[in-house]
Amino acid sequence: MSDRERLKRLAAERAVEFVEDGMVLGLGTGSTAKHVLDVLAERRRAGALRKIVGVATSRWTERYARELGIPLITLEEEPRVDLTLDGADEVDPSLDLIKGLGGALLWEKIVATVSDQFVVVVDETKLVKRLGERAPLPIEVVPFGWNTHLSYLDLLGGEPTLRLTPAGTPFMTDGGHYLIECRFSGGMAEPRRLEQELRQRVGVVETGLFLGMADAVVVAGEDGVRVLRPEVSTA
Ligand code: A5P
Repeated sequence: MSDRERLKRLAAERAVEFVEDGMVLGLGTGSTAKHVLDVLAERRRAGALRKIVGVATSRWTERYARELGIPLITLEEEPRVDLTLDGADEVDPSLDLIKGLGGALLWEKIVATVSDQFVVVVDETKLVKRLGERAPLPIEVVPFGWNTHLSYLDLLGGEPTLRLTPAGTPFMTDGGHYLIECRFSGGMAEPRRLEQELRQRVGVVETGLFLGMADAVVVAGEDGVRVLRPEVSTA
């Protein structure tokens, strides 16, 4: 296992300590969330957490959880989630996030929104000073007229490109949408304003900005594992 994978695994082990038996658990998507699923499955094989049920945030997670024998439930059956454990692409000092480079941002955001607790699991390479300084922002759009968003994103200071599969066809999300990935040179100056601008645009389904949503971020680094909590505003 590479050093990076080892850190993800350590973060996953700490994050699973948030899980209590009987919980409805939002199951994230991505390589870090995969470690969370592995740890959950190990705990269950050892006889713990036998009564948890998972809500998958992607078809991939659904398949992998089934392989591991983790019972699943849908939001139609249970529209409330106790705790979601998911990865992120970037985490800024306010614990705002970019998510969705795994392609699952819409379902992830829905599940996180209905979760009592949203705990993010990362290795320290995901910590940034400013959102967008390394990762592009994924934006999920309906396929019809997808290219009409490009000049708009350009005006907002971004450099947008359509995400493609290795075969060169448009990448399709589980919800049947396209993903535009938008780079912001030096990062985003005002992520909240950008989120508002993007959300009011017809054809944009959702963005990978998860602002003010994380209740905790578990970060694994060479010096150990820390749990970061958002500062409570006194204003
Ligand atoms: C999936 O759509 C994403 O939101 C992932 O949670 C995010 O991309 C982090 O993935 P990794 O854990 O693979 O870096």
